[in-house]
Amino acid sequence: LRENTPVRFDEDRNSWDVFRYEDVHRILKDPAAFSSRRGLEVRGETLLTMDQPKHTHMRNLVNKAFTPKAINDLAPRISSITNELLDQVIQSGKMDVVHDLATPLPVIVIAELLGVPAKDRMLFKEWSDTMVKGVEGSSDEAFAQMVAERDKAEKELSAYFLAILNERRKQPEDDLVSALLQAEIDGEKLQEQEILRFCILLLVAGNETTTNLITNAVRLLTEQPAIQNQVRQNPELVKTTVEETLRFYPPIVAIGRMTTQDVEIGGQLIREGQQVVSWVGAANRDPEKFEDPDTFLPDRKPNPHMGFGFGIHFCLGAPLARLEAQIALEIMLSRMDDLSFAKTTLTPIPSPFVFGVKSYPIT
Ligand code: HEM
Repeated sequence: LRENTPVRFDEDRNSWDVFRYEDVHRILKDPAAFSSRRGLEVRGETLLTMDQPKHTHMRNLVNKAFTPKAINDLAPRISSITNELLDQVIQSGKMDVVHDLATPLPVIVIAELLGVPAKDRMLFKEWSDTMVKGVEGSSDEAFAQMVAERDKAEKELSAYFLAILNERRKQPEDDLVSALLQAEIDGEKLQEQEILRFCILLLVAGNETTTNLITNAVRLLTEQPAIQNQVRQNPELVKTTVEETLRFYPPIVAIGRMTTQDVEIGGQLIREGQQVVSWVGAANRDPEKFEDPDTFLPDRKPNPHMGFGFGIHFCLGAPLARLEAQIALEIMLSRMDDLSFAKTTLTPIPSPFVFGVKSYPIT
């Protein structure tokens, strides 16, 4: 597709598809022509669906709370959570990467970052799982049920966060919610509803994606044992291995936009008001940009993949996701002698925009 129809219109989905690195890059770099408002903002807009100048203002405010230092300070805690999770399974000689490590780790980390007390963690996990749950089956009833469950979880989560917000307002603590309440630019603070929506966005945008990054990295190391050995012998390669996973097996393979004007991309005229899907998964393997694109190189440098997007909406959680994946891999490799796939049938996550599996047993 990238070679023969790099920019094409899909009649069934009523949407344009873009596959080449250069074209995807151009789209993500031009938020004025390619808007993030895609008519999906029924439940109120979030950072992800805002355009400039509102996006810039909101992003600057949340950046004040979501600083690289705040994230780096989490490293020791991420290590101990990873070790605790592995303690529970390592004796048995087998584990399911998705279930035993890659799902609970990001949920626990974000819960702690947001200031959710440990006693509420299970409740919190159930709500977060429901928020990102796909549809079971393809019927209209199944879809309606999923939407109803999500709405219920979102309402309950909002009420729960509101209580935390009120507590932190009275007595600030060293957590993200307190920092968000205090963040201020030119005397302007975030509104209560904005903070609530932002907290929910963090769960929706951050949990399943990080789960898939950790699982996809382990998957690659089991598929290519020579690379696993290379990384074991050179632990400093863990960082670049995580980056190469984001290029080779990106958890998010496509990013949507809507045109605000007529634009030409790859020789095709796209009219105003049309949906455009940028296929990051294809762009990340574009031979015009990456040498030997279908080879996984654990030491690939530079690696300008677009696994976290590009431009003004570049993933806010990238430093956190990278840190969690690096620590998870380092600890797995140091505590487990040989990671190998316990061959079973793999079930993909049922979304065309996500690359991941529901379960990944290893021995
Ligand atoms: C945005 C991917 C983890 C929070 C994005 C975008 C991508 C992405 C591709 C850009 C979307 C667009 O341009 O429309 C990923 C991947 C992750 C990950 C692959 C894990 C490997 C996280 C985490 C958090 C997070 C851990 C937070 C805890 C966000 C937010 C945005 C975003 C808030 C919106 C930023 C904006 O619009 O300015 N992410 N993400 N993500 N991500 Fe992530």
